[in-house]
Amino acid sequence: MSVTRESFGFMPDGTEIYKYIIENDCGTQAHVLTLGATLQSFIFADKNGEARDLLLGFDTVEDYLTKSNYQGATVGPYCNRIGGAAIDINGKHYELVANEKGVNNLHSNGEFSYRPWKALVPDADCVEMSYVSPDGEGGFPGETKVQVVFKLSQDNKLSIRYHGVSDRDTYLNFTNHAYFNLNGYDSGEILGHTLRIDADAFTPVDAMSIPTGGSMPVEGTPFDFRTAKKIGLEIEADHEQLKMTGGYDHNYCLCDGPRDLCEIGEAMAEESGIKMNIYTTLPGVQFYAGNFLAGKTGKKGLPMNKRTGFCLETQYYPDTPHRPEFPTCLFKAGEAYESETVYGFSIVSNEK
Ligand code: BGC
Repeated sequence: MSVTRESFGFMPDGTEIYKYIIENDCGTQAHVLTLGATLQSFIFADKNGEARDLLLGFDTVEDYLTKSNYQGATVGPYCNRIGGAAIDINGKHYELVANEKGVNNLHSNGEFSYRPWKALVPDADCVEMSYVSPDGEGGFPGETKVQVVFKLSQDNKLSIRYHGVSDRDTYLNFTNHAYFNLNGYDSGEILGHTLRIDADAFTPVDAMSIPTGGSMPVEGTPFDFRTAKKIGLEIEADHEQLKMTGGYDHNYCLCDGPRDLCEIGEAMAEESGIKMNIYTTLPGVQFYAGNFLAGKTGKKGLPMNKRTGFCLETQYYPDTPHRPEFPTCLFKAGEAYESETVYGFSIVSNEK
């Protein structure tokens, strides 16, 4: 195992951005940037032993700052959406940035995602990124200190562990926004990937993608991924919820609250033979099929088109501050937020 570091460029204010490469003895690599604690590349050998990069992303700091839809970024203090871009805590009202359609807050307006983080290498198999979000930044109360540890194992599991503490009561909901393509970022649509998600229900949304409340069973709907099926099989089905969001872009309900690390699904691409198993301690996962990707270029200047990557963003449910029926993610001052998500990679065996 080894961790190496190289320069990735500079922020407009001159801060240098570094890329850390964690490599195991099989040659698998995770590339993590100090910009937004971003997972930039994941290099893994396909069924023929050819290395592929399984993550959509960019080659320069400037591209991450000007073109990104959160590709690989750490998102917080509150990932996903908060309706009306405002929260109330202990009787106090906090206005957030209404960065989506001038009404809602999406991904905390990129507060964690486009800032330089500090890096530490505690061991030969991991990198720890840290960030201090000042009190009131983006409207969120409290100075929040966050550490994210990216760790690669010899058996090709990438673990992402989050730890956060604020000095005020506040909502905390962190995720990583990796867009995966298990045939490689440069290989086209992900509609032929098969996907399994171990969830009986999802949270339905309105036309602005804000949860309408409660959950909807997946049974008998195109949202049912309990048995693996191709992402593209029903993505165009005539279902109100799919029409509303232009394809899958929904929170799946995994459980009622944080729990021990548990497998929650699996994705697979036939052409490369690459399979990814997903594990998390969190109660929800946003399955986003990359419906809004278009009109931008990514790595090597190649177009990053609609549905060329998919996200499985583990999380507390969206708009939890306004939904008492959802598992809460209100943390007391000094109380630690902890979570872990693992993406495990392997080659599908041909044996039946
Ligand atoms: C959201 C999408 C959004 C994407 C990029 C996802 O988490 O669910 O609606 O387009 O992030 O910001």
